Amino acid sequence: MTNGGVRHGEPLLDVRDLRVEFRTRDGVARAVNGVSYTVAAGQTLAVLGESGSGKSVTAQAVMGILDSPPGFVTGGEILFQGRDLLKLGKEERRKVRGARMAMIFQDALSSLNPVLTVGAQLGEMFEVHEGMSRKKARGRAVELMERVGIPAARERVGDYPHQFSGGMRQRIMIAMALALRPDLIIADEPTTALDVTVQAQVMDLLAELQREFTMGLILITHDLGVVADVADTIAVMYAGRIVETAPVHQLYKAPAHPYTRGLLESIPRLGHKGRELYAIKGLPPNLTAIPPGCAFHPRCPLARDICRTDPPPLYEAGPDRASACHFWRETLDGGKEIFDGAR
Ligand SMILES: Nc1ncnc2c1ncn2[C@@H]1O[C@H](COP(=O)(O)OP(=O)(O)OP(=O)(O)O)[C@@H](O)[C@H]1O
Ligand code: SF4
Ligand SMILES: [Mg+2]
Repeated sequence: MTNGGVRHGEPLLDVRDLRVEFRTRDGVARAVNGVSYTVAAGQTLAVLGESGSGKSVTAQAVMGILDSPPGFVTGGEILFQGRDLLKLGKEERRKVRGARMAMIFQDALSSLNPVLTVGAQLGEMFEVHEGMSRKKARGRAVELMERVGIPAARERVGDYPHQFSGGMRQRIMIAMALALRPDLIIADEPTTALDVTVQAQVMDLLAELQREFTMGLILITHDLGVVADVADTIAVMYAGRIVETAPVHQLYKAPAHPYTRGLLESIPRLGHKGRELYAIKGLPPNLTAIPPGCAFHPRCPLARDICRTDPPPLYEAGPDRASACHFWRETLDGGKEIFDGAR
């Protein structure tokens, strides 16, 4: 068994057996149920899964911005540069979050301050964290805007967020995240709200900056197509667990988990033209009542008796690969016919 991560030397971030639950009037929602992953400097990890699978909550726990209450971390460790973030006090945690890690969200308009100019918001990062004068900070803001590809940055530094297009706003948010040269960036659906061409441009920019600054990058998405070219490793989440992790090209070529297979078969891909798309039947589980055994069994075309009773551990499914499926081997080489049959 592995912890699900791929190691290039020392990991920057090492999440171990993380558990998060939400205590609400409707019961306890087990949103994260033992997630482990690692991210090294210069590595991009894509986290993939349907809505509600726990992608954002895991990231919020890492960043220390979990909505608490009702959310509580109930177990695990979050080792960042060797320190367990869960053991830090509030103030120390805030410092790490400000300087060493940054997050990019889907919706720049609600993340940026509407009543401050973009230059003032970017400049404030340097004034507050690096004690720069306002004038110098403004100069750095322009440089940063140029670096993220905003045309006529010098003229536009005094504009407000709403005066920029969606794609440009997303670039500004990337600039904000990069300002203090963090070691880790978590981008939560950073391009979902953009049209396809702009999506690709913003994704390319992120990948380029990540290489330039040798940062660790966690890219959260429910769109496999978007991350194929930029990620090194993919972790697939289902019902608060990682069910498969693999180097990106291996996962595309041959998934080792029926859920991943279903996700892949349900997106239009080159060379599959004219073929009917597969749809994973049913809905993701209610997190207050996760099915026993394998949480995916009610929707899985490969499910057998053992799946209904025994939760699958994360099996080692090759070098740097893991799958939480009792029948990973079959899925890897023989599952295709079964899926064709289920179409
Ligand atoms: N503030 C909250 N209060 C109560 N429950 C929450 C809260 N935030 C998240 N949850 C629970 O955690 C589950 C996982 O949420 P999460 O936001 O991580 O999903 P996700 O994988 O990021 O989905 P999406 O693709 O829709 O962003 C939700 O389905 C919900 O049950
Ligand atoms: S363990 Fe069983 S139900 Fe779960 S994914 Fe594998 S075959 Fe399907
Ligand atoms: Mg989310």
